[in-house]
Amino acid sequence: MDHTIKVCVSGKCKGRGADAVFVALDRGCSDRATLSKTTECMGYCGLGPNIAVDGNILHHMHPRDAAERVNREIDNPSPKEHGLGSKTLDDLDSFLDTL
Ligand code: FES
Repeated sequence: MDHTIKVCVSGKCKGRGADAVFVALDRGCSDRATLSKTTECMGYCGLGPNIAVDGNILHHMHPRDAAERVNREIDNPSPKEHGLGSKTLDDLDSFLDTL
């Protein structure tokens, strides 16, 4: 099991149901990946709840289909362009505006 799932449970993501997303992923994906919570904001608060699957960020997570989306991401990883540490300048500007 060399996949990782990090669920942002900081500020806005928590307020939008990140804990319920974590529970759904624990039930549906814990046999395929190491699942953890993080309080490190991923910088996409307005699109939360957010999670990172092997570094790729998935937005608008919902308990209803969270496990299905993560399993799809593990089987067919999305391009790294939305990965942590590779934000566009516009994304960084938007994030800095929220501070
Ligand atoms: S609070 Fe989750 S991405 Fe900012």
